[in-house]
Amino acid sequence: EKGGYDHFMLKEIYEQPLAIKDTYRGRLLADEGIIKMAGIEDNMKRFLNADRIIIVACGTSWHAGLVAEYIFEDLARIPVEVEYASEFRYRNPVITEKDVVISISQSGETADTLAAIKLAKSKGAFVFGVCNVVGSSIARETDAGAYTHAGPEIGVASTKAFTTQITVLTLIALRLARAKGTMSSSDYRRHLHELELIPEKVTKALEADKHIQAVSQLYKDSHNMLYLGRGYNFPVALEGALKLKEISYIHAEGYPAAEMKHGPIALIDENMPVIIIATKKGHYEKVVSNIQEIKARKGKIIGIVTEGDVSVRELADHVIEVPETLENLSPLLTTIPLQLLSYHIAVMLGKNVDQPRNLAKSVTVE
Ligand code: M6R
Repeated sequence: EKGGYDHFMLKEIYEQPLAIKDTYRGRLLADEGIIKMAGIEDNMKRFLNADRIIIVACGTSWHAGLVAEYIFEDLARIPVEVEYASEFRYRNPVITEKDVVISISQSGETADTLAAIKLAKSKGAFVFGVCNVVGSSIARETDAGAYTHAGPEIGVASTKAFTTQITVLTLIALRLARAKGTMSSSDYRRHLHELELIPEKVTKALEADKHIQAVSQLYKDSHNMLYLGRGYNFPVALEGALKLKEISYIHAEGYPAAEMKHGPIALIDENMPVIIIATKKGHYEKVVSNIQEIKARKGKIIGIVTEGDVSVRELADHVIEVPETLENLSPLLTTIPLQLLSYHIAVMLGKNVDQPRNLAKSVTVE
């Protein structure tokens, strides 16, 4: 049932090229320049009339929501707020009939997310669901939605659900951008073609596995790790830290790289490994100067870089390469080495990777 893999998590990491393809199959017609999603077409007016989109989710799905915030604002110019479902539901939030709420949930059973949806619906908002499990409570409770089609995710640590959620949300953002005219047709087409290439680039990113395993061996006994990223890759840093925490029980924190100087830099010494996402597009020079600051304080640096990178390689203790893509699609690639790093560290520490202590696959209680 694990298809020859030692753990479901590893199987699911390796399933991502196919899972992403399954997510866009029939929806992304790159050559025709078309995105087809019934849940969006049927409700286009609601989306176009929305003053803002509110995204509600928990855990990894919340991180996918943060990536979506960047994509929606950047491409479709729609203001987005991303909320932890558990905070949103108890905050007496201001919601009107003009709001569109997007709830993201792999299981479709997360109690806080479900409650947030019910609250939003009671105030007249239009609620759209992005779920993986077909027929789940959230899928049934929402007004419309789009499934991720990632196939069953068994490992408690979410992997392919995250990348397929980002894929669906990217398709939605592109469709809305086209409808609103916020992207030029050449830029739009370029995004469609690049998205279509993501599965093979994920396959390429997975080829670093052996190297990542060797790096994992060097850092498995660390007590803390810091994950940094900027822009589109800030949420990826949060996700990388969450993945490490939940399966290896090593304390890790994710931060926007530029926030480092407002506090976390105090933690940096030779015992602090820093995983920093420094891909070519997206604040590259600024991230390189963050790396110099870490190096000056003797922090150990693991850089996630674009293939062929030179500058970070000169400074970092290790680099892990991912193929080049558009900045706003980069989370789909930079996430892969972080998943593998936490997987290998957890295995080396003898942890129960698929069923970490104290955690459940779906959190059906608040
Ligand atoms: O099923 P959901 O997407 O609603 O689950 C949300 C979180 O419970 C989930 O992402 C959790 O954080 C994962 N264990 C992360 O790997």
